[in-house]
Amino acid sequence: MKVYIDGRLVDKENAKISVLDHGLLYGDGIFEGIRAYNGRVFRLKEHLERLWSSAKAINLAVPIQKKEIEKAIIKTLLANKLSEAYIRLIVTRGCGDLSIDPKNCTMSPSLIIIASSVSLYPEEFYINGMEVITTCIRRIRQDSLSPNVKSLNYLNNILAKMQATKSGVMEAIMLNAEGYVVECTSDNIFLVKDDIVYTPSASDGALMGITRDTVIELAKNKLKIPVKEERISVYDVYTADECFLTGTAAEVIPVIAVDSRQILDGKPGKITLKLIEEFKSLTRLTGIPIK
Ligand SMILES: Cc1ncc(COP(=O)(O)O)c(C=O)c1O
Repeated sequence: MKVYIDGRLVDKENAKISVLDHGLLYGDGIFEGIRAYNGRVFRLKEHLERLWSSAKAINLAVPIQKKEIEKAIIKTLLANKLSEAYIRLIVTRGCGDLSIDPKNCTMSPSLIIIASSVSLYPEEFYINGMEVITTCIRRIRQDSLSPNVKSLNYLNNILAKMQATKSGVMEAIMLNAEGYVVECTSDNIFLVKDDIVYTPSASDGALMGITRDTVIELAKNKLKIPVKEERISVYDVYTADECFLTGTAAEVIPVIAVDSRQILDGKPGKITLKLIEEFKSLTRLTGIPIK
């Protein structure tokens, strides 16, 4: 595997950054998870825009321009002979000293691109659905850190993921400080009730996921199903007709039980299945070609 670091493609064994990089010392940095399907990078423009917004929010200067990053991603995919891939784009704060202050990071931020394959959940879950829990770990309040900053510090989500794993499932629903449903540890959440699709709104603290946006667009424009971005309670989840999760790594995955309560008949719902189908065909046909 070849990894891109600061303009160079190196073997993964030699893909190293300094122990004084604040990305490592403090999680001070940002990332994007992107996918390539069928020789095309899906929604690359949107991912780069979000990366720039994350950078702006934490006052980090991305070391190269968007067009150059696009070229670097394609170069990395070609070097790894990948036409289907999960791409991790990372920008660290760069090297500093042992204080947390980024003003002491005198070296330029590092840009890293790792392209590989990832299947977040077993194939079987995409067909039969998965079970999730509600975690007691609350999402960090957005007045402390906006959920839209995709920072290198995922400890909050990691703790929730650990609780899910301990409970024998692979994903957990996270609530905000007010106790409303926000999202899962690495995916956005959707419900279907009486043929209307619901998802928590930005003001409840969900990351504005790119797969979330794609699914909203598909539901509204392709399937002509109304979508409401609204406050959702745990009760709404338990009593929904359908539930599914979305994310670049997760793609679109049905949820069939939450906290041991079956969602309707415990099978993936019909709107969920239609959206999975539409999402699959869209990802195969659109994106920046790898060449
Ligand atoms: C906390 C969280 N929510 C939602 C998502 C889904 O976002 P996207 O569809 O842009 O990958 C992710 C994925 O990065 C995530 O980490």
